[in-house]
Amino acid sequence: MKYFYLETFGCQMNVVDSEQISALMRGIGYEPVTAPELADLVLLNTCSVRDKAERKVYGHLGRFKPIKDKRPELIIGVGGCVAQQEGQRMLDTVSYLDLVFGTHNIHRLPEMVQQVEQTRQRASETDFLDRETRLNLFPERSVSESVTRFVTIMQGCDNFCSYCIVPHVRGREISRSSAEILGEIETLVAAGVREVTLLGQNVNSYGCKTDHEMSFPHLLREVDSIAGLKRLRFATSHPKDITTELIDCFGQLNSLCPQIHLPVQSGSDRILGLMNRGYDVADYLDKVRRLKAVCPQIRLTTDIIVGFPGETEEDFQETLTLVEQVRYADAFTFLYSPRVETAAASMTDHASARQKQQRFDRLLKLQQQISGEIWQADANRVMPVLVEGTSKQGDGQLFGRTVWNRIVNFNGPQELVGRIVPVTIVKVLRNSHLGDYQENL
Ligand code: 5AD
Ligand code: SF4
Repeated sequence: MKYFYLETFGCQMNVVDSEQISALMRGIGYEPVTAPELADLVLLNTCSVRDKAERKVYGHLGRFKPIKDKRPELIIGVGGCVAQQEGQRMLDTVSYLDLVFGTHNIHRLPEMVQQVEQTRQRASETDFLDRETRLNLFPERSVSESVTRFVTIMQGCDNFCSYCIVPHVRGREISRSSAEILGEIETLVAAGVREVTLLGQNVNSYGCKTDHEMSFPHLLREVDSIAGLKRLRFATSHPKDITTELIDCFGQLNSLCPQIHLPVQSGSDRILGLMNRGYDVADYLDKVRRLKAVCPQIRLTTDIIVGFPGETEEDFQETLTLVEQVRYADAFTFLYSPRVETAAASMTDHASARQKQQRFDRLLKLQQQISGEIWQADANRVMPVLVEGTSKQGDGQLFGRTVWNRIVNFNGPQELVGRIVPVTIVKVLRNSHLGDYQENL
């Protein structure tokens, strides 16, 4: 028996890619292990969205060197966005690395691994594939025990936000066929899955560039009508592509959870223009207002970049104002990080690192206060929780999620897994709730 160790960084897209990598490795006789010391093959699935994520990859690779020194037959491979970006350069700089595979080359991994096993020749494959080939390569994933699943509906991005490396490392946008998506979800539901999250870099533009394909709201309606599917979510949305038809879905589809991740990035029109986001603050707020009108219980989350080149104190104040107006349940806040090949990397900047850090801290403080107020409102309420399994807390508790995607840990019998049950929220923690389940509720 041979063993592989796989570590995943970054977004949900990488999580799905890693599931596919695992399935492919099993197909050539490798079984997973949880420590690199036990493995014959070590793989990293990497993220390059920010500089910090990218540096982590090199840091992590360093950990494997002593293992390889002891066991030179160990095969080490890197895939994902850093691999796509760096390609052969990674092999040149990391002497103990054997394999580099890009974001379009996952299906080639079994052959690449077998080739290294046999010839001990290092290999790198990072060519982008054409549309037709990619369409045939959407991961058909094995059915598992889980209650919730991600289903990829599109890949790549054509938006070229000026700060973002994704279009450069994931390639052009393609939409998977709706027949295939619906077929996969039907199979998953038949196997016990109760919740799916439709996944793509920009799900709202699903089907837009494909002849005779349905729109994203139409796809949502079709998925919603699959009997047995209890909850439906999607990520990520681009605000410019939110249509009235999509907003209406939140008032009409039973399974669609009242929750949307809607990255705003900045509250300044000037900065949004420089970011090439394709909307202004008024457009964004209008869409938020309409979402809240059709679905008053909706909770929004967002991404915000602080310290984009040229951001002034006034621009930043406008971001704070927007955050106060929208009242996000959660916000992922990032310090701007210049990325190679992107338009923003060559823009001039005047704010100091200290100023940017201070802005970041002010935004975080405001958001933590708002998040605290919103989540605290759940205390003492009874909420429907979809039970997913045994809690990672390790003390035998179960865990599930509310419609707002909040984790709830509580005591209860194992038979609840896969069911939606009423749980009283007894304590609101920073990132999760503690709940109390009583059978006779
Ligand atoms: N610097 C900082 N944050 C970035 N993001 C994307 N690119 C950068 C960058 N160069 C953030 C955006 C995006 C999230 C996934 O990562 O907010 O929505
Ligand atoms: Fe990056 Fe913009 Fe595409 Fe999102 S929409 S992946 S931020 S380029």
